Amino acid sequence: MSRAVQADELFDPTSPVFLADPYPVLNELREAAPVLHHERLERWFVTRHAEVRACLRDRRLGRNFRHVGTEEEFRAAPLDPLWQAFWEVERWSLLWLEPPDHTRIRKLVAAAFTPKSVEAMRGPSERLANELLDPLLERGAMDLLYDFAQPYSIGLICRWLGVPLDRHRDLLDWSHAMVKMYELDTTEEQARAAVEAAATFRDYVLELIAERRSSPQDDLVSGLVEARVDGERLSEAEIVSTVIVLLNAGHEATVNTLGNGIRALMQHRDQWERVVSGEVPAVAAIEELIRYDPPLQLFERWVLEEGVEVAGVPISRGEKVAMLFGAANRDPRAFAEPERFDVGRPNAAEHIGFGGGIHVCIGAPLARIELEASLRALASRCPSLELAEEPKRIPAFVIWGLESVEVTLR
Ligand code: HEM
Repeated sequence: MSRAVQADELFDPTSPVFLADPYPVLNELREAAPVLHHERLERWFVTRHAEVRACLRDRRLGRNFRHVGTEEEFRAAPLDPLWQAFWEVERWSLLWLEPPDHTRIRKLVAAAFTPKSVEAMRGPSERLANELLDPLLERGAMDLLYDFAQPYSIGLICRWLGVPLDRHRDLLDWSHAMVKMYELDTTEEQARAAVEAAATFRDYVLELIAERRSSPQDDLVSGLVEARVDGERLSEAEIVSTVIVLLNAGHEATVNTLGNGIRALMQHRDQWERVVSGEVPAVAAIEELIRYDPPLQLFERWVLEEGVEVAGVPISRGEKVAMLFGAANRDPRAFAEPERFDVGRPNAAEHIGFGGGIHVCIGAPLARIELEASLRALASRCPSLELAEEPKRIPAFVIWGLESVEVTLR
């Protein structure tokens, strides 16, 4: 049994200095210990690749505790009734559920992600990437996120689900507002905006469900409306949560991978040239983009049982464990010279970026196709791509992305 190392002095995930470049601190934390306790944040932080992987797969750790205990037992604040619309939408999200409800809904969604149906998105991904680039090449400059990555990613996830594209900017706005609830320092104002967005988003999906109920299409929303598990249909609330989690998760991380990744490629021109020349295929390079600067930096679990130890440190039932993906992805125990950005890194795909265990990213095969097609289109059509200015970061840690990425194309 080891003694807990304290993280309070080393780590403030909300400080502007940390957010400007978190990697020196993440490296320091990881080398200090595989697991550290943060008194003020009332959490344990897990830092190393092997331990993060093990936690992701440990069934004694759960994303939620309400199926095994009360809020008093877990010393968690009760869900604030003021934010009810948000919790209602979250209530049946795969990301909020644990078995048996998680197993039931995940099975249904997984049935849509067959290798054949995911592969069928390759053509549309390539076409959309090229269609979006045509006018931008004429213009000669763009915000890579607003003009390319966002319409690309939302366009593909809407197509996948069968959601019309006419409200795509609304979908992006609702999603951006809602995901602020996953940060460690959500403000009152952000929470209010998230609740408003969740309520509007819910009403929009309810209308969509009603339409599909009266005239079913060959799409995932109709599939969820019609689906039966053990003879039971999904409830309306379950379908709303599932559609919203797929829509939100289906573009936030993909857009931020492209933003963070293109920034890294522009700042390491030799690596961009390796992709442009075809020396390193895009399908390999995207794994290093996710490893080097992952779009999701932290995921949490509750300890559901007594007897849990992480790296020999006992952690009691009711405690919270936060896994630091960015620290794990630069662990020298897993990756040689981890600070080096190397698009040809042979084991880059061993990154933690898509998680693991029962909540492992269900959209990873689709994300990989989208990222490969878009990186290939950018490299072949815009080989002279350059940053027009240093991109500004969104001041948030968990959903890790840039405000904008202004580039010139020729
Ligand atoms: C580069 C892009 C992406 C990254 C890095 C990413 C990462 C992740 C991670 C780390 C998790 C696990 C969270 C946890 O363990 O608590 C996750 C879950 C999930 N992802 Fe992704 N994701 C990406 C793209 C997508 C796409 C395109 C979709 C939808 C088509 C998607 C849908 C989901 C869903 C529904 C879950 C919840 C699964 C569950 O809890 O059972 N993701 N993702």
